[in-house]
Amino acid sequence: MTVLVGFSSKYGATEGIAERIARKLREAGQDAVARPAASVDKADKYDAFVIGSSAYMGSWRKEATEFVRRNRELLSGHPVWLFSSGPLGTAGQDAQGRDLLKESEPKQFEEFSESLQPRGMQVFFGALDPNVLGRRDRLVRRIPSGRELLPEGDFRDWAAIDEWSAGIARELRGE
Ligand SMILES: Cc1cc2nc3c(=O)[nH]c(=O)nc-3n(C[C@H](O)[C@H](O)[C@H](O)COP(=O)(O)O)c2cc1C
Repeated sequence: MTVLVGFSSKYGATEGIAERIARKLREAGQDAVARPAASVDKADKYDAFVIGSSAYMGSWRKEATEFVRRNRELLSGHPVWLFSSGPLGTAGQDAQGRDLLKESEPKQFEEFSESLQPRGMQVFFGALDPNVLGRRDRLVRRIPSGRELLPEGDFRDWAAIDEWSAGIARELRGE
């Protein structure tokens, strides 16, 4: 199957996740490519879609949201998976003891779950390099507890990403 892994990434962390998912799908025999969502003009040439973005302030970036909105009808007739990259750190729970991945779901998961009926919606840990942040993002990290909530480091969980990709490949094979 021809699979689009469409992504929106501000500093590259989500692009790395998208490339990894596409590679794992190719290794499993699928014809998968990772492309920035904003650059995809002929979405109808794909048979299945894995769409993801990093989350900022609880929301996907607009390129990914707009891609899904623009192609909602097409996507709703094909297998779709959504992912988000966001939470930072190594803790599985937030300060209130809630599941961090669940709490980090972007609002778009709810927006798209009914109309697209995705086969899966998954949050992955992300990465943050303070040296590359733009001015506004640097300022957000300076607010009280900003550094605690947004620690520096690469927390991407490649094992979880690979496992999720393998599950997609199995479903595409109809297993
Ligand atoms: C200013 C700022 C706000 C952020 N807000 C969120 C958020 O609301 N939820 C979340 O899960 N991650 C949040 N993050 C973490 C990013 O989503 C994470 O670093 C992500 O992996 C970056 O991916 P990208 O380089 O592809 O944009 C935030 C990061 C910054 C710098």
